[in-house]
Amino acid sequence: MKVLLVYFSGCGYTFWTAQKLATLLKAQGHTVSGVLDIEKYAPAEQERSERHIFLTPTYFFAPPALFVKALHKIPMVADKEAVVIATKGGQQGLTTVYTRSLLTSRGYKVIGTADLTLPDTFIGLKSSQLTSAQRVARLKKAEDELKALCKKIVGTEPFSCDRSRAYSFIALPFLWVFRHAFGLSFISTDACTHCGLCEKNCPMHCIHLKDGRPVWKHNCTACFRCVNACPAHAIDMSAVSWILGACGAVIGWIFVRWFFGWLGAFLSAFVGLVGLAYGCVAGVAVGQKIYRKVAQTPLFANRNRIACENIKKG
Ligand SMILES: Cc1cc2nc3c(=O)[nH]c(=O)nc-3n(C[C@H](O)[C@H](O)[C@H](O)COP(=O)(O)O)c2cc1C
Repeated sequence: MKVLLVYFSGCGYTFWTAQKLATLLKAQGHTVSGVLDIEKYAPAEQERSERHIFLTPTYFFAPPALFVKALHKIPMVADKEAVVIATKGGQQGLTTVYTRSLLTSRGYKVIGTADLTLPDTFIGLKSSQLTSAQRVARLKKAEDELKALCKKIVGTEPFSCDRSRAYSFIALPFLWVFRHAFGLSFISTDACTHCGLCEKNCPMHCIHLKDGRPVWKHNCTACFRCVNACPAHAIDMSAVSWILGACGAVIGWIFVRWFFGWLGAFLSAFVGLVGLAYGCVAGVAVGQKIYRKVAQTPLFANRNRIACENIKKG
């Protein structure tokens, strides 16, 4: 069978998956007509193969905004077969079900969906909890799972790992809040050498340099590529936003609790998340200069990175 692999990857793990899959499929005698970054996916590519494999990471229980946007823009196809593979650190939530419905709306016939656990690139206020031996073991396990998946990917039997849409109750508030505010808690420290690689590498084009230092716009998809690819290790997430966010969350929670009583538990959690978002916004509103000064002190910055060999480095 002739297949085309189309992926988005923030820190390189979904790219790693696409490459591994291409190698495995070729070894089984299939033709891989390309391993394409979704940003380079053009209409002509659609004709080149019988089945398209879409690979996406999970960000906040859903596919990243860039991937969703790109899928919205691809030209309609007539009954082209597709497979969706979601990479994840733990729970994929709505990633496959959401991608499936986006592809179906573009005319694809989705044969199957699968998910694959890889090292977690979400390192908000925590370091990657994997030791390097655990990371290697996880990649090895993922490779074995991919080997088993190959047969299904080129087969005719439908397969699915889609979660129930009821998951939306958990996933959507996270998605909405974090997609809109998370990027605002990134900071650059005094270690910044003004090389501009972060600006150049950003898949969302949401970083611009101000006085030689990166500033993030609200549309940051929080892929962590800038953090992990910075040669000077000068990009970080600041706890200031989280502290302000936590204050917002508590205030929101108290307000809703007082207004709706204990029955408003779900609503409270949602308002708490919105509070967290506005905490991040407030962090920036207090002024980039003061914000950055406080945010980069050892007390508030985290210095968290993970190993990502396949990351785009400019
Ligand atoms: C901002 C962000 C949010 C994430 N959210 C989730 C999540 O909700 N569930 C999950 O299982 N993994 C989550 N992850 C982990 C990634 O899906 C996983 O590490 C993936 O392999 C990263 O692929 P990439 O390196 O191609 O971006 C998240 C990672 C990031 C950076």
